[in-house]
Amino acid sequence: MRLLSDPKYVALTEATWSIFDDYQHQVASSHWRPSYHISPVAGLLNDPNGFCFFNNEYHLFYQWYPFGIAHGMKHWAHVKSDDLVNWSSPTLAMTPDTDYDARGVYSGAAYCLKQKNGDQECLLYFTGNLKYENDIRDATQCVATLSKDGVVTKSVQNPLIPTVPAGYSGHVRDPKVFAVGNEYRMLLGAQTEQEKGCVLVYRSDDAMAWELMGELDVRFTNDDDTIGGYMWECPDFFELDGCDVLVFSPQGITPKGDHFHNEFNVVYCLGRADWRTLTFDVEVMQELDRGFDFYAPQTMDNHPTGERILSAWAGCGDPDYPSDREGWSNCLTFPRALTIQDNQLCQRPVDAIQALYAEHQQGEGMGSGIKVLAAGIPNRYRFTLTLDGVKCLTTLSLLATENESLDLIIDADEKRITLDRSNMSSRFAKQWGEQRRASYPVGETLEIDVLIDGSIAEIFIDGGRLAFTARVFPHSPHSKIELNSTSEIHYHFDAYEISPSVNTSPITSEALVPQELHTELTKES
Ligand code: FRU
Repeated sequence: MRLLSDPKYVALTEATWSIFDDYQHQVASSHWRPSYHISPVAGLLNDPNGFCFFNNEYHLFYQWYPFGIAHGMKHWAHVKSDDLVNWSSPTLAMTPDTDYDARGVYSGAAYCLKQKNGDQECLLYFTGNLKYENDIRDATQCVATLSKDGVVTKSVQNPLIPTVPAGYSGHVRDPKVFAVGNEYRMLLGAQTEQEKGCVLVYRSDDAMAWELMGELDVRFTNDDDTIGGYMWECPDFFELDGCDVLVFSPQGITPKGDHFHNEFNVVYCLGRADWRTLTFDVEVMQELDRGFDFYAPQTMDNHPTGERILSAWAGCGDPDYPSDREGWSNCLTFPRALTIQDNQLCQRPVDAIQALYAEHQQGEGMGSGIKVLAAGIPNRYRFTLTLDGVKCLTTLSLLATENESLDLIIDADEKRITLDRSNMSSRFAKQWGEQRRASYPVGETLEIDVLIDGSIAEIFIDGGRLAFTARVFPHSPHSKIELNSTSEIHYHFDAYEISPSVNTSPITSEALVPQELHTELTKES
């Protein structure tokens, strides 16, 4: 079988630097580029990968296609941080340069293995994607190590799992590894030959040699809750606040009421896992984020205090984002700290964001009708609002100018919160709907926490009981924040401008590509 050839299957190390460099310069002038969320210097970013704390630093990798906005040849890019908010310039961590990953170094997660002498080894599991002519796929499961000086090396033992098991299609990927007693488990997102999505479980004694145990039986108490879907991607598992938590990204599920209206969606299940019998008894199943653009999340391995921090692709599918014409697509969410409260997974921006606070405005008042809370602020801020006396309809308009706004509509009578991006002038992905609604027990008081950054909005309600992630492409780099209430309401707000904390300028080939991968690329630059 011959590998599928297509112009989008080109690795950065085989290409002409100037093509990439042109993209970078085009992207750098975009006012939509986030300045404290991680986005690609050019090309397309998708899933977060290998998120971990290792050697006293946070490491985050992401899926990256450097040459445009296609889901082409995927590389792993690498950024690191001391505090989860200030990030280094990206470097190229893995390029698809072997027989077992020749059509993409696909997603995976990190596992920091404690060695007998107490040292840690950082293992980066990933999927080698293979795509042949006639659209036939195969997948291998592989590992690389991250050294203390930041070098990523693919293991000579790869592929650890050389092909997909019988009964499954070529869509088996996205390894997540964790310990169970003295053994290890690897979860893989998978599709059966009958095109049913599922999670496969492998076991190992040394985290290197793996044997298939079988499919995870995700047992819902209520049959109506069954998820379905033709493929489950990016499984994650962790324990939090006494619960077992399973997260995955199913594709092909049907919308249900206000839920699952995105092209692809993300669910979490709280319950009990048994890694011997391969069962997960679900007590609660929910959509993880109620916005438009949120997919393939993963949580950090080895956090020093045991906190659970999540990163996700603030995007989904292929919706023709307005930034596509500038040669870049997507960003990651801001890192979110997870907790469980009242049987719900809650998410809020990590507290370290406070280190980035710059200009601060504060205000409070009482009344009904329209109030401009802040005006002319750069689209790079955190805004927290406490409302008291919430009745009838209250709308918070973000990114507002004469011509557009992103509206959060709080309906106290219907007990519903809606995010509406149909009043933005750049409209896209309309086929999936321009509003996202969530039933919510709106009480007299409500807390709203908003992050705005270039072209992303993340909104958290009441300590993150509800989260909405949305890409939005405002016309102007400055905007107003307005509150409009049909009844008398008391409000208190804080608006903090956020200092830029990620690289947004073009980088040199020497800085991006490690010496050992500098072959054709440097010849041509
Ligand atoms: C999820 C996903 C993963 C895959 C990766 C490829 O967005 O499709 O399943 O490993 O993206 O970029």
